[in-house]
Amino acid sequence: MKKILIISGGISKERAISLDTGKQVAKELNKNNYKVKITEPNFKLLDVIKSFKPKIIFNALHGQFGEDGYIQSILETTKIPYTHSGVVPSALAMDKELSKKIFIKNNILTPKYISYSFNKSNLELIKLINKKLKFPVVIKPLNEGSSVNVFICSKSNIIKKLNSLKNYRKVIIEKFIPGREIQAAIIGSKKLGAIELIPKRKFYDYQAKYNSKAKTKHIIPVDLTKTQYKRLMDITFKAHKLIGCAGVTRSDFKFYKNKFYLLEINTQPGMTSLSLVPEIAAYRGIKFIKLLELILKDASKKK
Ligand SMILES: Nc1ncnc2c1ncn2[C@@H]1O[C@H](COP(=O)(O)OP(=O)(O)O)[C@@H](O)[C@H]1O
Ligand SMILES: [Mg+2]
Repeated sequence: MKKILIISGGISKERAISLDTGKQVAKELNKNNYKVKITEPNFKLLDVIKSFKPKIIFNALHGQFGEDGYIQSILETTKIPYTHSGVVPSALAMDKELSKKIFIKNNILTPKYISYSFNKSNLELIKLINKKLKFPVVIKPLNEGSSVNVFICSKSNIIKKLNSLKNYRKVIIEKFIPGREIQAAIIGSKKLGAIELIPKRKFYDYQAKYNSKAKTKHIIPVDLTKTQYKRLMDITFKAHKLIGCAGVTRSDFKFYKNKFYLLEINTQPGMTSLSLVPEIAAYRGIKFIKLLELILKDASKKK
């Protein structure tokens, strides 16, 4: 019986989602005769790994320390295969500015942006935005997920919103791209597929993502022409490979005037019942357990 250690929880703002991901992954693996243990990424982690001796470690963490290379660098020391991306790809993907720079260098379209370290007067900033981006804009931290602290801003509320983000050293201010919200997934070297989200809320924010009462519509298959779909999957695959990702990734796009704008690539996409990757897989006839087994298989290949 294969022993799998699931790491979930942690201290990021996405702790609750990670616990949910961990629970659902554990339930599915248990049902399929794996020997599963769930643990937190705390100071006892290495002891837990030593005594449980897992064959593979399933990283079910999201956000800071779980998705940005920190836990990955600790796991590297154990010599036990762990799921999803390694240290450097995780760090690159988690940093929205670094990954945008890589996308731009490699001709992957991403919304125009400025990075901002709270070092300008309000007037200077507004002038710069008017010149480079135009309002509305989207402000977001460099290294959060789940739409935590992502805000669509106009000239009238941007200063107030930025003030609420001062604790982050730096944020990015992006041109707002209207249009459709489409996300696409890769597993290993396989183009898994895509899904469209139609939020009832102003945008695909935290509530729209996790609260079923917010009633975001999930559309699959996505209504795209064959060539548009191919273009989408090619960009998604290119981004996954460029960053050097492993296992499963999900890339978030805005689709506007026949152009796909890549917002970000997620190296630890959610695996809750409302999560998109399991839904995309299911549409392709890949059951949840099969998806998990593909992820586990890719973990071993990374080593
Ligand atoms: N430049 C943008 N234009 C329009 N909407 C955006 C833009 N950036 C982010 N959003 C909205 O905010 C959501 C979260 O942004 P994203 O960059 O994917 O960060 P997170 O890591 O929090 O998911 C997106 O799914 C989209 O709905
Ligand atoms: Mg996103």
